[in-house]
Amino acid sequence: MGLFFSLKYTVVYGLTLTWAKAEGYDTPNAPRCLINPTCITSDNTPGSCVELKRCKKLNDLVSNKLDGTSQTEELFRKYKCGWSNNEPMFCCADVRDQVPPKTKPADCGISSINHFGPIEVRTNVLGSWPWMVALGYRKWSDPTISYRCGASLIADEWLLTAAHCVVKTSPFQLITARLGDLDLDDSVVDNASPVDVSIESSSVFPHPKYLDDSRNFDIALLRLKNPVQFTNSTRPICLLSGTTYEKDEYYKRKRPYVIGWGRTENETTPTTLMEVPVKIHNLKECSHKYSDMGGKTFTDNILCAGVPGKDSCQGDSGGPLIFVNTTEVRFYLGGVVSAGNKCATDYPGLYMRVAKFISWINDVTRLDF
Ligand SMILES: *[C@@H]1O[C@H](CO)[C@@H](O)[C@H](O)[C@H]1NC(C)=O
Ligand SMILES: *[C@@H]1O[C@H](CO)[C@@H](O)[C@H](O)[C@H]1NC(C)=O
Ligand SMILES: *[C@@H]1O[C@H](CO)[C@@H](O)[C@H](O)[C@H]1NC(C)=O
Repeated sequence: MGLFFSLKYTVVYGLTLTWAKAEGYDTPNAPRCLINPTCITSDNTPGSCVELKRCKKLNDLVSNKLDGTSQTEELFRKYKCGWSNNEPMFCCADVRDQVPPKTKPADCGISSINHFGPIEVRTNVLGSWPWMVALGYRKWSDPTISYRCGASLIADEWLLTAAHCVVKTSPFQLITARLGDLDLDDSVVDNASPVDVSIESSSVFPHPKYLDDSRNFDIALLRLKNPVQFTNSTRPICLLSGTTYEKDEYYKRKRPYVIGWGRTENETTPTTLMEVPVKIHNLKECSHKYSDMGGKTFTDNILCAGVPGKDSCQGDSGGPLIFVNTTEVRFYLGGVVSAGNKCATDYPGLYMRVAKFISWINDVTRLDF
């Protein structure tokens, strides 16, 4: 009995392997393949059936012993769970061991517009906020699309929005995301070439705790049907990621921006993208203010922000609360517009604090923010 396969090792992060197909290598101890991609390894650990390069632990096993054919044999015997496009698949026991298939976008948070002049509520030019996305909804019986929520592009196929924009939206159904637009009214000349990407219900990932605790977990990921090409008017925003950004301390005295197509203070619905600078409020005072409306249960998953007369409003939900790093000249997503009490009253608006959700975002997207 010899080996049924040959391996050629090349390059990179882990390995790229060329496989000669190992027919008939299904020993009694081989991992059982359940419904793809779920499998159980020969030592009875549940896992996912994936390419070798996506499993860190198995990658390490092979790369530590490049010359050790016995190691490779063991790999096949204990972990092979099938073939896909002439590549063997292996049972990876711990999803967190998996090497992310892609890294986060490096060119995030860059606007082609100089934002650092005096700013008040004003309309924008194309490319000011290239990560801004409008979510389009339709009633079953009516082909008209209405844009009722915002979202942010965070990677070429991922959007971050509010869970209430994707859960129980009846009678409206989320069907599309519009990227790279400025004025949603197609008859207005704004030089935009917006891209509409359809959203399928299987690509909607509300936070699993949202139904139990809608105040503190109003956040969702959407996977686009096709990855988008980055341009000056379509580009992802960076995420505030790291323990520094989980704490209140960082947000004191910060003046982020909210952007959206929601209602303005005079109750009209603009079709062009609006921006508002807001001020972060102390969470304790904010939850006290909301004490009659569930404020007592607020956790530090929430950021409160606003200034009287300036706020996010209905239709802005899901959109970004944007922080600037003036050293890097980059913009960061720190909050997702969640809720408020009417608009621009003396109640601050409520936002999901993105930094508290990074590990969930990494788990769902398999990226590493
Ligand atoms: C994109 O923006 C950069 C920086 O503002 C500019 O130099 C470049 O010409 C723009 N590219 C296109 C295709 O408009
Ligand atoms: C409503 O507000 C917008 C922006 O603040 C302004 O451009 C518009 O003229 C206002 N409309 C009315 C009717 O006041
Ligand atoms: C801005 O970016 C620099 C370089 O990455 C970092 O050291 C600094 O802490 C950032 N500033 C803020 C306010 O986050």
